[in-house]
Amino acid sequence: MSAYTRQAMALLFDRTAETYDALGVDFFGTFARELLDRVALVPGERVLDVGCGRGAVLFPAAERVGAGGSVLGIDLSAEMIERTAKDIEDRGPANASVSLMDAQEPTLDDATFDVALASFVVFFLPEPIEGLRSWHRLLKPGGRLGMTTFGDDDPRWAGVREVFKPFVSPELAWTLAIRASLFATIDGFDRAVESAGFTGVTSVERVYPVKFADPGQWITWSWSQGQRMFWELVPEDRQDAVRRAVLAELEPLREPDGSVVLAQSVRYTIAHRG
Ligand SMILES: C[S@@+](CC[C@H](N)C(=O)[O-])C[C@H]1O[C@@H](n2cnc3c(N)ncnc32)[C@H](O)[C@@H]1O
Repeated sequence: MSAYTRQAMALLFDRTAETYDALGVDFFGTFARELLDRVALVPGERVLDVGCGRGAVLFPAAERVGAGGSVLGIDLSAEMIERTAKDIEDRGPANASVSLMDAQEPTLDDATFDVALASFVVFFLPEPIEGLRSWHRLLKPGGRLGMTTFGDDDPRWAGVREVFKPFVSPELAWTLAIRASLFATIDGFDRAVESAGFTGVTSVERVYPVKFADPGQWITWSWSQGQRMFWELVPEDRQDAVRRAVLAELEPLREPDGSVVLAQSVRYTIAHRG
């Protein structure tokens, strides 16, 4: 991925920021809470939330570290930062702050954080190992890193993914293979994290049923997060046809109550700075 696509990614998330994680689908918040449980935050800790988005991790982390601790969220999307800063200003907490910054080369002092968190971020970086090295350097000795990444795709939803494939140009093919190479297996990813200097790296994978009231709700929701990238690759005059094709793929998956359920696999990785 080039520097341009890093910026393009930030602009994509700018366009999702208004409704990101705010459409009543239980998604980023659930995974954030489990990440915080696994990294075992304690009161008083200084935390960095890399790729903070709208604060799914940042707000509960600030609550857990309490007034004696702090959380700094960084993100390359100006809209995400602006809106999350406004939320902090409006409702607190006083120990949370955000800053516009590239996750791969954060301009922060070495050895200043007890914990670094990166929920669904590392796979967006052009050089994930470089990002991991940066986060390692920012941790105090004995500090911890907690990450989430996506696991295997739900095979029942393969037809939906196929609908978008014809619109993905060769230079964007990596977006379809986001779980390839470094992220293909848990063991391979753990070794990559070790290669960035971390010790005691462990990952676990869990699968969650994510419920959408009906296929239309999935479509609306998919525009509000990273999946929007695929919708935006579809030319305007093909949007209706693609929408109909997605609905047709999801129709057979409907439950008796009309809902559709996505089996979302999430990996939690915890690592340490020795
Ligand atoms: C899938 S969202 C996750 C947001 C949040 N961590 C959560 O769990 O809801 C990915 C976030 O990473 C940010 N991001 C992507 N590339 C980035 C980069 N190079 N530097 C900083 N943030 C980046 C996006 O703007 C977006 O807010």
